[in-house]
Amino acid sequence: MLKIVIDGKEAEVEEGLSVLELAEKIGVKIPTLCYHPAVGAYGACRVCIVEVIEKGLSKLTTSCTCPVESGIEVKTNSEKVKKTRKLIVEMLLARCPDAKIIQDLAKQLGVEKTRAPQKNENCILCGLCVRICREIIAVDAVGFANRGNKRKVTTPFEIQSDVCLGCGACAFVCPTGAIKIEDVEDKRKIDMWHTELGKVKCERCGRYFSPVPLLEQIKKKGLREMSDFLGLCPDCRRLVLANKLMGREE
Ligand code: FES
Repeated sequence: MLKIVIDGKEAEVEEGLSVLELAEKIGVKIPTLCYHPAVGAYGACRVCIVEVIEKGLSKLTTSCTCPVESGIEVKTNSEKVKKTRKLIVEMLLARCPDAKIIQDLAKQLGVEKTRAPQKNENCILCGLCVRICREIIAVDAVGFANRGNKRKVTTPFEIQSDVCLGCGACAFVCPTGAIKIEDVEDKRKIDMWHTELGKVKCERCGRYFSPVPLLEQIKKKGLREMSDFLGLCPDCRRLVLANKLMGREE
């Protein structure tokens, strides 16, 4: 167990946690945008910044990427932290003025307006979509391209990726809602990824439901107990399964 001091209180924690994970565990709230427990930390948005004091030296660091070490003191809301976090949020607000999550964070921190030139982007380049696609979905359909102020998240060569399953995990984790998924009858469109995929028609009710590549992937994974239901939309699947369990005729 490691002993540390966080916001003036002593805490004992097991090894291997980040400062952010420790804070969450003991109920200390630190704002985050690019952190998700399902994927590795990346330290991109920087709003989770904290002050760490070690051997008398103080430094500002992102708590999601900072491992807890014995003897450190962490301040999650010192004047230094508050000032820097406000500046970071001011920059994010200039980049994505319409993102609700950033507007809320700015309000919470007392940032009323931004002095930086506005960009009107939706994406904060946090890379959560890239990490979820790589680490959880394991297909790597999107990634970062370019450098400096031209940096963006996109598909290889900015054309439809032939490995995208259309699963929507990227849109689900995106903190700013920059990735829009549009389901139009028999198609799923993801404009940000230059992608349009056909959808599977439910064998029972005729409704289009899953993107074709997603269902193909599930079939490949060989979920045998699901094989009778894969051609059915979620509603019909539930109904057929319930009928089966109750011994009712279809
Ligand atoms: S949550 Fe830590 S840098 Fe974004």
